[in-house]
Amino acid sequence: MNRVSTGIKGLDDMIRGGLIPKRPYAITGPPGSGKTTLGIHFLMEGIRNEENVVMVALDEPPNEIKFNAQAFGFDLGDIKILDAVPDIKGYRRGSLIKDVGTILDFHTMRDVRDIRMSRSLRIMDVSIHSVQKMLRQDAEDLYEATGEKYSRVVVDSMTALKMFGMKGEDQRILIQSFMRFIAEMEATCLIVSQTPEPDHLDTEVLLARGEIRLHKTKNRGMINRGVSIEKLRGSDFDETIRPIKITSKGIKVQNGETFNG
Ligand SMILES: Nc1ncnc2c1ncn2[C@@H]1O[C@H](COP(=O)(O)OP(=O)(O)O)[C@@H](O)[C@H]1O
Ligand SMILES: [Mg+2]
Repeated sequence: MNRVSTGIKGLDDMIRGGLIPKRPYAITGPPGSGKTTLGIHFLMEGIRNEENVVMVALDEPPNEIKFNAQAFGFDLGDIKILDAVPDIKGYRRGSLIKDVGTILDFHTMRDVRDIRMSRSLRIMDVSIHSVQKMLRQDAEDLYEATGEKYSRVVVDSMTALKMFGMKGEDQRILIQSFMRFIAEMEATCLIVSQTPEPDHLDTEVLLARGEIRLHKTKNRGMINRGVSIEKLRGSDFDETIRPIKITSKGIKVQNGETFNG
């Protein structure tokens, strides 16, 4: 069967060659475990194959993603990016609701400057609706201009979108509708989700067709990193947690070894 490479050889080996195309997958793990880096590997693999790829940045501003990725020697130039990192406008006293807005803006990574700024100045509330609307519009523009679709989408992260972008509405229903929209795009999609604890199942993780989990533990003053496949519908996979290294070349999986935590 046709598989989509994650851009990381050792990870492809764990899932028998790659992801089953046109489905959403969850990337889970604690902060600093390598979720964004994995997303960049995945998008860069698309760029290498001359595909159209897009990242929705909600966690980390594009200029910072670009700066960090350059340290890995990646040239992110052709990656399309939707800058949806929320700017907090104010708190309502006694309320959990944060009033957030942002400059929702599309550019390619090539046009992302060192300092965050925007050309179009479309200040909007960050919501699952506004992000979905921008993404749909951009996908339609791409299709009109080239007759092509996005083949790879990374949403980094759903956790941020949930925190800032859902004001009292039923989160579960909104996430379900967003996942349906993603499925309609017919792209292979990675949805980043920060897991508070390993067994906590967020809606996006439940609805995803697979879950790749990144591990980060401390042991005797050392940080240990690992990767495991928690589920993968329609495919056999390596059930061992494998150690990973993050170096100046990105993520490398140590396939023959076992993660010791
Ligand atoms: N150029 C680099 N060389 C080595 N390690 C790096 C480099 N850039 C980032 N890292 C490490 O990779 C970790 C993972 O980063 P990131 O992918 O942003 O994690 P997450 O998105 O899960 O928070 C960072 O905390 C850092 O320790
Ligand atoms: Mg990140």
